[in-house]
Amino acid sequence: MDINMFNMSHLDSLERFKGQSIALLGGSFDPFHNAHRMLVKSAVEALPVEALLVMPLGWAPHKTTRMRLATFRYEMSIRGVYGIPRVYVSDEEIKTPAISYTIDTVTHLINKISPDPLYLVIGSDSFEALPSWRCYKELALKVVFAVARRGDDDMEKLHTLAERYQKEDDAHVVFFKMPPSSLSSSNLRTALRQGKSVEGACPEKVVGLINTYRIYDFQDEYDALSEESWSRIRSTEQAAWRYYTQKQRLHVVSVAQYAARLALANGVDLEKAFIAGLLHDAAKNLPVKERLLLAEAYLTSHLFAKDAAKVIRDVALSNKNKLASSDQSVKEFGSYYEGSDYHSVLLNTSLSETRTTCLSDNSSSEMRTTCLSDNSLSEIQTSCLSDNSSSEMRTSYLSNASSSKIRNSCLNDNETLWLTSLNKSLLHGPAGAMLAKNIFGIYEPDILDAICFHSTARPNMTSLEKVLYLADKIAYDRTFKRLEPIRKYSQKGDLDFAMHLCLEETFVALNRKGKIPHPFSIAAYEEIRDL
Ligand SMILES: [Fe+2]
Ligand SMILES: [Fe+2]
Repeated sequence: MDINMFNMSHLDSLERFKGQSIALLGGSFDPFHNAHRMLVKSAVEALPVEALLVMPLGWAPHKTTRMRLATFRYEMSIRGVYGIPRVYVSDEEIKTPAISYTIDTVTHLINKISPDPLYLVIGSDSFEALPSWRCYKELALKVVFAVARRGDDDMEKLHTLAERYQKEDDAHVVFFKMPPSSLSSSNLRTALRQGKSVEGACPEKVVGLINTYRIYDFQDEYDALSEESWSRIRSTEQAAWRYYTQKQRLHVVSVAQYAARLALANGVDLEKAFIAGLLHDAAKNLPVKERLLLAEAYLTSHLFAKDAAKVIRDVALSNKNKLASSDQSVKEFGSYYEGSDYHSVLLNTSLSETRTTCLSDNSSSEMRTTCLSDNSLSEIQTSCLSDNSSSEMRTSYLSNASSSKIRNSCLNDNETLWLTSLNKSLLHGPAGAMLAKNIFGIYEPDILDAICFHSTARPNMTSLEKVLYLADKIAYDRTFKRLEPIRKYSQKGDLDFAMHLCLEETFVALNRKGKIPHPFSIAAYEEIRDL
């Protein structure tokens, strides 16, 4: 299903509603069901408003149950209201850390767009409990309560309550009708956990989403997390929100959940797998220039173990005379230096300064000379793309590889494609690791390395690295051929055989696109094949 078809419901900016009459409906929408849709439709048709904003809850400390990740609830809301005019889904609560209660949301909206008036849509079941809401009296002065009444409601009781609120708290209350419904999110969650279908209870597009991503199929993984881990995961999702498009968010949360599944099955730290999954593509939307800078900073900061790097570095160095000194792979293989620091990277606007900082150790002077010989980013990019000996290098490098499939796919490629693919599409791995460390405050080297090598793999991978690499390829949003056997072996605890199959599948897919694998991937494959 094409995600773009739903963009009409997605609200990027609230500014367009400045000063207008707006209705607001908040909720966890976990899942978004048909009664939500009826409520939205009835409200927007009955109330004199320009727009109705559906705002899924972000961080809700008062919630005792663990909601699904915000990305899924946001997407279910977008799909759930699809086709209803003047209804928009806003991620304002999700992406604003300070918002926890309705009063916070209302104050935030008033400060931002001064709606006139602001209707707060609530169900008749919440009406009686209104005075127990946080800062209710303040809320009563800021909004008009728009109460949905169902056919089976006690109207006399509702009107008595409205009069009381009006008299005692100066509250404004209006009623609108909606069809009765017995649907409840908690009942639907129970049904989903039992593997039952929610067809007919949720809008069709929501059902499709739940089924594709198996949103409610990860209860064991959620339950296995401590409160502290869960809190860290939720806040990481929130912090990373602005780095992704919604389509990318769906991918990363899918990968994060699947990584947690593999972690549980393979004795790997669940929280680390989840965090690595959430952040693994965070650098993807950065401009190439920034990705290059961050990737280089990470790869030159020794954050991957020297013994693991040695295998590939030796191969690179043994072919050094055949390699153009400007080839990016030489830098990646050879230049992992101590002493890199994020702040030096971010504060330095010039790449040469950054390099000087990164390369201030006693590593190979030859390599350092190679890296330092470029003094501007454009020169580096040009040099990366103008390698005139890579074909020779590839022939030499691959002469020992016994897999004819890989060798052929590499040798059939042209060098421009090879280098372009290396520089642009794979850079977000190491760049993402640097971003995770310095923007998201992730200091566990194993999480950072998992992010770094998720785009290429490498020899001597840790189990966490394998878990993320595999989850990225086989999470439920993926549909490629031979996927089921890889899922089966990785969930059975045979990560190595799953990696073997997955790397082969990746090579075949690359070959189909006329690309060749990154040398790290080939080295990883050769190692795992010979186990
Ligand atoms: Fe990626
Ligand atoms: Fe990914």
